[in-house]
Amino acid sequence: MLAASLLYLPGMVLDLLGLVTCRTMGESSTIKMVKSKSWTMVKHFEGLPKLEDFKLEEKELPPLKDGELLLESVFLSVDPYMRPYSKRMMKPGDVMIGSQVARVVESKNPAFEVGTYHVTNVGWTTHFISDGAGFQSLPKEWPENLPRSLAVGAAGMPGYTAYFGLLEICNPKEGEVVLVNCAAGAVGSLVGQIAKIKGCKVVGSAGSDDKVTYLKEIGFDEAFNYKTVNSLEEALKNASPEGYDCYFENVGGNYADVALQQMKQFGRISVCGAISLYNDSVPATGPYIQTYMLFKQLRMEGFLVTRWMQRYPEAQKHLLKWIAEGKLKYHEHVTNGFENMPAGFIGMLTGENIGKAVIKV
Ligand SMILES: NC(=O)c1ccc[n+]([C@@H]2O[C@H](COP(=O)([O-])OP(=O)(O)OC[C@H]3O[C@@H](n4cnc5c(N)ncnc54)[C@H](OP(=O)(O)O)[C@@H]3O)[C@@H](O)[C@H]2O)c1
Repeated sequence: MLAASLLYLPGMVLDLLGLVTCRTMGESSTIKMVKSKSWTMVKHFEGLPKLEDFKLEEKELPPLKDGELLLESVFLSVDPYMRPYSKRMMKPGDVMIGSQVARVVESKNPAFEVGTYHVTNVGWTTHFISDGAGFQSLPKEWPENLPRSLAVGAAGMPGYTAYFGLLEICNPKEGEVVLVNCAAGAVGSLVGQIAKIKGCKVVGSAGSDDKVTYLKEIGFDEAFNYKTVNSLEEALKNASPEGYDCYFENVGGNYADVALQQMKQFGRISVCGAISLYNDSVPATGPYIQTYMLFKQLRMEGFLVTRWMQRYPEAQKHLLKWIAEGKLKYHEHVTNGFENMPAGFIGMLTGENIGKAVIKV
């Protein structure tokens, strides 16, 4: 240990926490030299991302200036949007985009106390310095029995997506039939349960029998494995012979071509995602939808959840209340270790997760 310190600067002693203690003129002060790890994208993904497309990099963070705070990521989110947005927003060598629940470990900003938790959007990084701008702080009264990872899950962005995307765009009425795909995932599992809270009949599809069992456990009226049914058309007809009033779309592509034909008159379609198309190198083409839209008088609207950013606190309040009342069940697929983040991301894209996929540092 002492030998190691001698390799650094004279008068500095390296301790086990990676802090460097500086002794000057008989006084002792501690300068934090924190190492931050980040995952960068080596090159743009072709098809499904591969482990070799990511690189782990390390850098030393400087001491804090006045107004700044040092945070450590506690839970990081892996989400489908990272795949299409990597193409639109990133260049090779950039840190992967994404959000996390982070804890303040040092603060030179009176507005942010050490030990408080915030949802931040600084990418796949273990430690970072910030002035706190743009933080969504976890409520002080965060329920003790709930993991803080829910702030990037059922009581965070995916929760807001389900809440606003269903209620504002589909506007489901009691007794109506709601279809949701990717139904066992972070967003879909909440969409189905919120539709049940609103008194609807809910049909969901997902990619494994275990997921189908899960959907039945959390109250879906009908659920099927879209990978093993003989015909998607028949499965949708069996689940709701009278058709669908609302369709919460997460998948797109061929699935949508079939589902759109089974909408009822004046049906509403909330286009949340199109995950079946995200890994395409060549844009897919499909049947043209205008005739279904016309003769069934359908309304289809795409959305980005950030449209309702000003109303996130309202949604979070409802989501936490429903969770506390047992009306909204959540499930998390936790990958342990920051070093496993690329594998966790790829696993989510290939359907390993039930509920929200998160990384625990
Ligand atoms: N508009 C917005 O603001 C917004 C915000 C958040 C999320 N989204 C969208 O919502 C959708 C769900 O996101 P999420 O975070 O809840 O992810 P998720 O459902 O938790 O995870 C992704 C799931 O996608 C399914 N999947 C993967 N490839 C597929 C394919 N080719 N066909 C059908 N399903 C496939 C897999 O489940 P299976 O085993 O069932 O295949 C996988 O578990 C995504 O399309 C995402 O882009 C949109």
